[in-house]
Amino acid sequence: MTLDFQSLEKIPKHVALIMDGNGRWAQQRGLSRLEGHKEGAQSVRAVLRAAAQAGVEYITVYAFSTENWKRPPAEIDGLMKLLVHSLNEYEQELHDNNIRLLVMGQFDRLPLPVRMRLQKTIDATAHYTDHTFVIALSYGSRTEIADAAKQIAAKVKAGEMKLKEVNEQAIANHLYLPDVPDPELMIRTSGELRLSNFLLWQLSYAEFYITDDYWPDFREEQFFHALEAFNGRDRRYGGMNKKQ
Ligand code: IPE
Ligand code: IPE
Ligand code: MG
Repeated sequence: MTLDFQSLEKIPKHVALIMDGNGRWAQQRGLSRLEGHKEGAQSVRAVLRAAAQAGVEYITVYAFSTENWKRPPAEIDGLMKLLVHSLNEYEQELHDNNIRLLVMGQFDRLPLPVRMRLQKTIDATAHYTDHTFVIALSYGSRTEIADAAKQIAAKVKAGEMKLKEVNEQAIANHLYLPDVPDPELMIRTSGELRLSNFLLWQLSYAEFYITDDYWPDFREEQFFHALEAFNGRDRRYGGMNKKQ
């Protein structure tokens, strides 16, 4: 099936995805949760490919939240190993498609081999400008905002910043990735109607697309449908519809 991305008038510059439902996908098939995560890794690959084809510049995926540290150690370990394995297996595709890798979250909390492996690919792809792939890892939006507040407070205290300079832009500038534009579209799989501490600040005016598909079933075609839905949205930003 060919997906006609060119037929879409508006393509979001940045799409953020909450990849949810790997466990339920596996459970439905009598497989281990890790098998679900493995299949989910293939969906990441498919979405990256489709995004490059559609001309989406930034893709951010929520891969591991600060809250996910509460999961059993074996699952956490399996997820970390899968991350390293996926980087080994798919790094070439980043080079082939001119995709730069970035990571957002508590980098220091990740196991050392994972950090080293990530850093290698971050460095090797840093010069690419066509597309950016952000992995949110040990990411929590409230921690991110609290850290930004702390940095700003320290600057004000040290006299490097004036109190009147503490505005929306200043907060945005102190988040993990200040140069990445806010997502215009947020996709969540597996039907859950919540943000789970993902990009609370950055998603203020994003369009939401929630699908019942489990993440391992979310591939090129499903991504295309999400872009179609975005294309049909009327974004008013608190103003009025042009036709009114
Ligand atoms: C998403 O799938 C992957 C991570 C959060 C790491 P889940 O593991 O949350 O799958 P469900 O929600 O239990 O089905
Ligand atoms: C959100 O999924 C986090 C990631 C996709 C990494 P969860 O499965 O952890 O979220 P909850 O528990 O349903 O809120
Ligand atoms: Mg889940």
